[in-house]
Amino acid sequence: MTPFHYRLDVLHCEDVPLDRLAKTFGTPSYIYSGSAIDSAFSTFQDAFSATKPLICFAVKANSNLSVLQRLAKLGSGFDIVSGGELERVLRAGGDPSKTVFSGVGKTEAEIRAALTAQIHCFNVESAEELDRIDLVAQHMGQQAPISLRVNPDVNPDTHPYIATGLKESKFGIPIEQALKLYERAATLSGIKIVGIDCHIGSQITQLEPYEAAMDALFDLVDQLLEKGIVLRHIDLGGGMSVCYLDEQPFPLAALADSVALKLRDRDLQLILEPGRYIVADAGILLTEVLYTKHNGDHGFGIIDAAMNDLIRPALYGSPQKILPVKAQSGTDRSIDIVGPICETGDFLAKDYPIRVQAGELLALAAVGAYGMSMSSNYNTRGRAAEVLIDGEEARLIRRRELVEELLASETDCLHKDSSGEVLSNQSEAKQ
Ligand code: LLP
Repeated sequence: MTPFHYRLDVLHCEDVPLDRLAKTFGTPSYIYSGSAIDSAFSTFQDAFSATKPLICFAVKANSNLSVLQRLAKLGSGFDIVSGGELERVLRAGGDPSKTVFSGVGKTEAEIRAALTAQIHCFNVESAEELDRIDLVAQHMGQQAPISLRVNPDVNPDTHPYIATGLKESKFGIPIEQALKLYERAATLSGIKIVGIDCHIGSQITQLEPYEAAMDALFDLVDQLLEKGIVLRHIDLGGGMSVCYLDEQPFPLAALADSVALKLRDRDLQLILEPGRYIVADAGILLTEVLYTKHNGDHGFGIIDAAMNDLIRPALYGSPQKILPVKAQSGTDRSIDIVGPICETGDFLAKDYPIRVQAGELLALAAVGAYGMSMSSNYNTRGRAAEVLIDGEEARLIRRRELVEELLASETDCLHKDSSGEVLSNQSEAKQ
């Protein structure tokens, strides 16, 4: 049974009806199915069982500590891109020795923190960054384990904002410069070369871009061998797609077979960095319809979730499936589902065939990846609560953010009078 399903006409997550969750935790709330996370992780692991990769979950996809803790227990490693994400992994009980650090702009403090934690590897994205890591490691009396993130210039055929392996993108080291940089890295005393890495994009539905990237990387591995530079691992990044509406992801087994073939005669450990694949389908955003209205012929359902809670439709024009919590039969009318934020771009779905009325609950589907983790406080809206379901149990894993909490760090900075009272027009008038 899928984790989100109708029982007696009410949408459930596992064994819990979503209307009950709305009463208990309020809306908007992100609801995650624990079993869906577990089963996506084991499906991924099983698909690649021939090569036994180190799976490093991309923390940016869903960085809730309880989600990370769950994945750590399943044996997952982590792909991080900031000191903040490193801290999350450590607090969630993640294993730093299974953690890789990607990203084009690692600061000195972040490099130091990662060296202190003894992470598995830095995925280095530029020559200058290599030098910085070398210096920091030398000061700390360490050798930093590194791989170069190579940019193989392949087109992953995805949304331009999430294509990362093209020549014109800011990511990685152009493949034609990589050999020279490896040779230089081999001379640096604070550096220990351990691998090679790429990540060509996200929500990739075709196998071919992976094939092209692998061919380029394995070719480089061979050239390095000739120069006496022996690698321990190859990291192919993440990017494996899910189905949001009608996309047809390539079968994981096809990628797994292809990698297995290429790794057959080599002593290289495989690392993969899936994010979306593991958590996207495990999450919904539970929201209530506040109002409906018609502007001319155009119908709107105004909900209490907005682009600050889920920015993917506004930012990427990504398709968004919406399910009514109380089952309804089909409709021939389409409306826009929009949020309360003061931007025309604040839509969650356009021309969506659904009937709504004020007070009704809706579930925005497949938002477990890049949903909450990309949310913001725009329009001074507190961020949504997050709830994790296991069978009949519902556990709050992040409480709803209060406006008071949002304002605290600014209230402290307001001008105050000598008694500590915040200065206002009234207090000035009194003086
Ligand atoms: N590794 C690296 C170095 C990455 O930059 C990413 C994602 C991943 C792994 C995981 O990719 P995944 O398996 O989740 O596709 N906000 C966008 C996606 C941005 C992805 C950024 N990098 C979205 O909502 O579609």
